[in-house]
Amino acid sequence: MTGMRRLSGTIVIATHNAGKLKEMRELLAPYGLTAVSAGELGLPEPEETGVTFAENAAIKALAAAKAANLPAFADDSGVCVAALGGDPGIYSARWGGPTKDFDFAMRTIEDLLQKKGATAPEDRRAWFVSALCVAWPDEETVTVEGRVDGTLVWPPRGPAGFGYDPMFQPDGHERTFGEMSPEEKHGLPPQGLGLSHRARAFIALAETVLA
Ligand code: IMP
Repeated sequence: MTGMRRLSGTIVIATHNAGKLKEMRELLAPYGLTAVSAGELGLPEPEETGVTFAENAAIKALAAAKAANLPAFADDSGVCVAALGGDPGIYSARWGGPTKDFDFAMRTIEDLLQKKGATAPEDRRAWFVSALCVAWPDEETVTVEGRVDGTLVWPPRGPAGFGYDPMFQPDGHERTFGEMSPEEKHGLPPQGLGLSHRARAFIALAETVLA
């Protein structure tokens, strides 16, 4: 990682996840970058064989950069539950099953917590992680990570966001991510709080590759 390169022009957002695509577009918009998604370009989805968020982000960014011959931006993210030894972690998407049913995935987490008797808030600690990687077609990469800590609530609350948002109440806030507007969840300073894991990773990345 040199940190010397700057992004400009068109970049590929290497995701096939509509929720993440929307958030990434919102984050990149102020930098005047034109973003096309891997889905729109018809790029194949590489197998995520890494064992860390950072490795999987790099696999996706490198595959898209080489296939599209453009700089590419990828995120790998998920929720880690302390009482479950960090699960679902890098398998957060997979816990939604083939139909990507996150009501089901949240229920799975809740059932496991109940089995452990984890009803008190301090036994229900969790954190979201976002690893972001920018890769260039010549295989240079820059990778950063962001994290937000909080507590898992039950029942889930709020219609906003995606994935595990309705179950996650970030520290210092009374509402879950599912009850927050997009600006509250991932708005960047000076207007926003830079609250979400993705916003925090993005701030780190902006300092490195976005002029
Ligand atoms: P991946 O990064 O595509 O492997 O998927 C990560 C999975 O983690 C998503 O499908 C969501 O279920 C979950 N996830 C990641 N970020 C968030 C978030 O900001 N809110 C809720 N769920 C998230």
